[in-house]
Amino acid sequence: MQIDILTLFPEMFKGPFDHSIIKRAREKSLISVELVNIRDFSRNKHRTVDDTPYGGGAGMVIGPEPIFEAADWIKSRRGGIGRFIYMTPAGDPLNQETVRALAAESHLVVLCGHYEGVDQRVRDHLVTDEISIGDYVLTGGELPAMVLVDAVARLIPGVLGETDSAGEESFSDGLLEYPHYTRPRVYRSLEVPEVLLNGHHEQIRLWRRRQSLLRTLERRPDLLAGADLTEEDRIILKQVVLDLEKLSLPEEIGKKRKKRRPETGDRSQE
Ligand code: ADE
Repeated sequence: MQIDILTLFPEMFKGPFDHSIIKRAREKSLISVELVNIRDFSRNKHRTVDDTPYGGGAGMVIGPEPIFEAADWIKSRRGGIGRFIYMTPAGDPLNQETVRALAAESHLVVLCGHYEGVDQRVRDHLVTDEISIGDYVLTGGELPAMVLVDAVARLIPGVLGETDSAGEESFSDGLLEYPHYTRPRVYRSLEVPEVLLNGHHEQIRLWRRRQSLLRTLERRPDLLAGADLTEEDRIILKQVVLDLEKLSLPEEIGKKRKKRRPETGDRSQE
């Protein structure tokens, strides 16, 4: 996959893209990331790319010329343009379904905005997708672009090693992931659930499924409506709800969880 990133701050990508899985994916030529500096397409001697907004108001707007010209340059280099994505808090919220769809493309262009944003003509005539990484405002589109590239890259076949499977993780089937444990079996008297130790694969599968459903019900009940539930899942869910009712906890479901204060560790600040 070819990913061309249009940015005013190409240096920002150096750290994140030169480490770990993205680095490996680039080294294995599974993805190729090109950082394109929008400023290189400025036509004026000060290399400025932004200007005050027509109609007045605060902030600066990145003009259309450098972005259209950068797009022409990319088009001639790649023989066309795939999806042209603009990172903006006004975009469609990013989710795993969108990530999966983007991972199936062979060419992405990602535009990072700054200041008050980009001239609307860019959004109307170049951009094919507007994506937000959440309902909060960052200083620019660079961090969102990194988030997007990371999420997409790890779904490209061969990028994750055999041990970092993307198959059974949160959202893979619309549910949150079940809890994981590893050695030691007992740590500071905290024990690993017994069911995981008995080697009974069917019991383990059912326990994990129940945990996944329970966690989703408690933390993200909104996901359940869109999840791919089997008949077995529905039976487990009914049982989970009955068990919670017995504990008279249903009013807690869906409420924001307060993370419990850890029982161990440094308390010197208390
Ligand atoms: N640019 C600034 N904030 C953003 C956000 N939340 N998502 C995508 N792009 C952004």
